[in-house]
Amino acid sequence: MSFDLVIAKGRVFGTGSPVPGGEVVDVAVSGETIAAVGSGLARSGRRVVDAAGKVVLPGGLDVHVHLELPFCGTTSSDDWNTGTRAAACGGVTTVIDFAIPQEGESLLDAFENWSRKADGKACVDYAFHLAITNWDRQGPEMASMVARGCPTFKEFMIYASEGWQADDRAIFNTLERCRDLGAMLLVHAESSRVLDELIARHHTPELMARHGARLHAMSRPPFIEAEAIGRAVTWAEATGGRLYVVHMSTAKGAEIIKAAQGRGVPVQAETCAQYLVLDDSVFDRPDGHLFACCPQVKKVSDQDRLWQGLIDGEVSVVSTDTCTFTREQKARWNGDFTQIPMGLPGVETMIPLVYTRGVRTGRITLDRLVEVCSTNPARAMGLYPRKGLIAAGSDADLVIIDPDRTSVVDHATLETNADWNPYQGWTLAGFAESTYCRGRQLVDNYRFVGESGWGRWLARPPFEVANQGS
Ligand code: URP
Ligand code: ZN
Ligand code: ZN
Repeated sequence: MSFDLVIAKGRVFGTGSPVPGGEVVDVAVSGETIAAVGSGLARSGRRVVDAAGKVVLPGGLDVHVHLELPFCGTTSSDDWNTGTRAAACGGVTTVIDFAIPQEGESLLDAFENWSRKADGKACVDYAFHLAITNWDRQGPEMASMVARGCPTFKEFMIYASEGWQADDRAIFNTLERCRDLGAMLLVHAESSRVLDELIARHHTPELMARHGARLHAMSRPPFIEAEAIGRAVTWAEATGGRLYVVHMSTAKGAEIIKAAQGRGVPVQAETCAQYLVLDDSVFDRPDGHLFACCPQVKKVSDQDRLWQGLIDGEVSVVSTDTCTFTREQKARWNGDFTQIPMGLPGVETMIPLVYTRGVRTGRITLDRLVEVCSTNPARAMGLYPRKGLIAAGSDADLVIIDPDRTSVVDHATLETNADWNPYQGWTLAGFAESTYCRGRQLVDNYRFVGESGWGRWLARPPFEVANQGS
């Protein structure tokens, strides 16, 4: 038997082996899938890549990105081309975006709109979560969207001004429907009425002159997130519907999730790389407004608790919430913190940040990095074992990293479409030396060599429907 490609002698992680620390083996690829993992495969490879001294990981999944998103009066600047080129260079071979219906639109409309944006442009594989912005109109569509291959839905507990907000009635109903359909609800958990009140209190000419962009953080204390997580958890506990809390940024949130999981509530939580490595001192910088995202970055103590959550398991996924805006777009704020387009670039730096600040510092193992950046997101989103695993039959999504090679982040050399970067000047290891998505090489020697349109939409099966008893 011969193979199209053999990645030989790398230290391979994410094979499903219970032995930590990876194993030095060959990975053989035929067409788009992994054909074999074992020793002595190189002699049967038509192309052999020597990965001795390197680590080989299953492609990362960033299950929370917003590409070309109309938001905050503008449109996020990474589209499906630049955003997925960036993904590939960061070792991410699958992204999941949020298809959000505009006023009067159905879930199917949103699915088709987002498909049109991605079709022919995506360089890595992709899927969509469907945002429910009007329960009465879109709730009845959930079953047909699950049947179409979209078992994950999203509700925003804020963003009334965008026309996206879901109330408790919608969340409760959606969780019940998720329970019955084998679907999952993702929530953006922030407490909208109190948040609006705090924003209004801070939105005065005197305070804006004194504090500038720092008001973005001052108006969003941790209890804004914690109260909303607690409320969403209550509805998940009451209904038995699967819940997934996106972009969790607080220590309080991690405590609530840990306690809920301990009671058997079907809830999972992701955090994002920025909440692990940035804190709100960024708002002291003259260009602090660039760092406004939603929820905003918190304190070092929150960072520490989120890392602990990744170690202990109540936080099981790292994503990025990539929502890139250029300096010009961010300049819309003009001194008013309520007008800053909220979001950060991230997909390209997710694995390097977790590798550099997590693995190289000894906070987490490389096995754990693979779990939280690849295996767990694949499982959480119904893509495992097709994605997130290096084993025969899985997609040949493979990333080779040189564990000792560092580079200095410079927005000018990244694929991300921004003229700044939150990590500008940081020395990071863990960028992809090579990336393969379904056997196609997308990155060679740190350079993108892939193609627009290679990325394919991934239909996903429903989750197991819990036995309701009698
Ligand atoms: O700042 C962010 N996160 N922008 C994207 C919208 C969201 O809430 O995820
Ligand atoms: Zn959000
Ligand atoms: Zn988001």
